[in-house]
Amino acid sequence: MSGEYQQQYNAFKQNPAQFWLEQSKKIPWYKIPKKAYTQDEDGLYHWFSDGQLNTCFLALDQHVVAGFGDQTALIYDSPVTHTKQTFSYSQLQQEVAKFAGVMQSLGVTKGDRVVIYMPMIPQAVIGMLACARIGAIHSVVFGGFAAHELAVRIDDAKPKLILSASCGVEVCSVIEYKPLIDNAIELATHKVEHCIIYQRKQAIATLINDRDIDWNTAMQTAVATDPVPVNGNDPLYILYTSGTTGTPKGVVRENGGHAVAMNYSMKTVYDMEPGDVFWAASDIGWVVGHSYIVYAPLMYRCATVLYEGKPVRTPDASAFWRVVEEYKVSALFSAPTAFRAIKKEDPNADGFKQYNTSSLKRLFLAGERLDPPTYEWLKEKTKLPVLDHWWQTETGWAIACNPVGIEYLTTKSGSSTVPTPGFDVRILDMDGNECAANEQGAVVIKLPLPPGCLPTIWQDTPRFKASYLSEYEGYYLSSDGGYIDEDGYLFIMGRTDDVINVAGHRLSTGEMEEIVAAHPAVAECAVFAINDPLKGQLPMGMIVLKDDFVGSTKEVEQALVAAVRNQIGAIACLKNIVSVDRLPKTRSGKILRKNLRQLVDGEELQIPSTIDDASIFEEINQQLTQR
Ligand code: COA
Ligand code: AMP
Repeated sequence: MSGEYQQQYNAFKQNPAQFWLEQSKKIPWYKIPKKAYTQDEDGLYHWFSDGQLNTCFLALDQHVVAGFGDQTALIYDSPVTHTKQTFSYSQLQQEVAKFAGVMQSLGVTKGDRVVIYMPMIPQAVIGMLACARIGAIHSVVFGGFAAHELAVRIDDAKPKLILSASCGVEVCSVIEYKPLIDNAIELATHKVEHCIIYQRKQAIATLINDRDIDWNTAMQTAVATDPVPVNGNDPLYILYTSGTTGTPKGVVRENGGHAVAMNYSMKTVYDMEPGDVFWAASDIGWVVGHSYIVYAPLMYRCATVLYEGKPVRTPDASAFWRVVEEYKVSALFSAPTAFRAIKKEDPNADGFKQYNTSSLKRLFLAGERLDPPTYEWLKEKTKLPVLDHWWQTETGWAIACNPVGIEYLTTKSGSSTVPTPGFDVRILDMDGNECAANEQGAVVIKLPLPPGCLPTIWQDTPRFKASYLSEYEGYYLSSDGGYIDEDGYLFIMGRTDDVINVAGHRLSTGEMEEIVAAHPAVAECAVFAINDPLKGQLPMGMIVLKDDFVGSTKEVEQALVAAVRNQIGAIACLKNIVSVDRLPKTRSGKILRKNLRQLVDGEELQIPSTIDDASIFEEINQQLTQR
């Protein structure tokens, strides 16, 4: 590679601090930062700590001040409620400023946490931006998580306030949020002062006196408030993500680095221009929603689409293309699983032909591996560039991409293309040596991570260091395996830990295992991911019942499925639990989950030499076929 991308990448490698200071000049600051990054007493890196800014000002006010107040900022399209609504930058700014006033009147100030548990409605975006406006730290919890998961996050973030709605609307059901919130507050040790509830007509919630406040009533008397300057290293939000245990990790995002990274990525990764329409078909509960439904498009003065629907069944597999035509979407970003769902229902892409999608320049895919059949199908049917890019909740933006805003590189099936400028990606072997081209190893990023990435885990720097920094000194461990080929293209091959990806939702098999193991009839268990043609991966559980167990095995299996659904949520999709006589283990007692996955997926078994008794796989296979 010798083109413009390589030049920009080299410029970053030669002097990362200088590279990012240049980028920082492209956004407005109250106080311009002089230093790019600093290390604190714990050795953690922070970007632009000596600068002052306000993320909400960047997303809204700066455009209104510059005369773009009438331009469209937010397009809400909800096929599940048959609602459409558009907000200009001025309108959104007014709503956000007023809602920020509501929170201030309840005593929420800079540094306070606010949990947002909301469906895909404009009020969720208003809530997030209003927090940013007053320097409060939001923590959005995906609406598909059950009360227990919400309670765990409440106890960790210790919010003053919860923002929610009376319900979420799924394809065939209305999910009442209020009972979930009440239950979560009951389960949590930390006591929340207030909940502000947005009442939706699909289900009106009963409000609890003195604690719950009706959103619209509060807005009637609200006084608009101005953005509060915050330091570059003040947290903007905490976003919990699955780790290897039942305790999620609170990924911290700081204002300064985030703003610079978001701004840089809109051009470099997505080749957007102000005024374009950007659509990330994700959910505000995930990192993609934070970065590319809310913050980056608005900071870059694009219009952003907030879509409360599915790729299929709302009403059919042409839904995405309808939205593209209706709002003249320039770039569509979603997870491969969404396109697999469309492909399954509309293999000839008749829906695509039905609409005028000429505004659409590119398709962006992330969240899980883009499988070659989906990639080929999308390319053939849409004739558009189909661009895979790799990232994580921890990084907040693409670690590897096709840097179309700098130079369009030839795509390779199965590759997320090349490291984004800012990310010094290496492949290391078990001894910490760099792998040769095409040799698989651990994908790591040399420190410091670029702006926008997590500096630490909320209130748990030891865990941050243990999870990400301890394996290879001086590098961030991504926990993805992969390789770089002879042309410098990166291929991500999958997680090397207990994190799995079910329909683009990041989940922990470790957490599911903890729930299953807690059942009194279970002696031991293993939960692992198996391949699924639609959702990419699905969890499967194997249990060994206690010797003295009497009763129905089937009933235990069903109870475990229900327990995981109740504690994590329906999105966990653990529907397959089977009882076996024993589980395969190494001589030191480690359960061979990888071999179980290979067995169920029909792959060749790579059995380690340390196994106790290899005939066990034949035994389990027989038990599975007998079911
Ligand atoms: N609130 C409450 N429940 C939710 C929910 C939410 N926000 N999202 C999903 N669920 C529930 C569903 O109703 C379903 O419940 P059920 O078992 O009672 O039917 C369950 O969780 C599983 O949902 P899902 O995994 O979404 O399966 P699905 O069959 O309804 O849809 C897809 C399959 C592929 C269409 C859908 O998962 C999808 O659009 N995925 C893309 C996800 C995405 O964009 N991720 C972001 C990465 S960029
Ligand atoms: P999340 O934190 O939910 O964004 O999930 C991050 C994980 O999803 C990564 O560690 C990868 O395992 C997987 N992932 C995300 N994007 C890609 C991609 N483009 N290719 C392969 N895996 C991906």
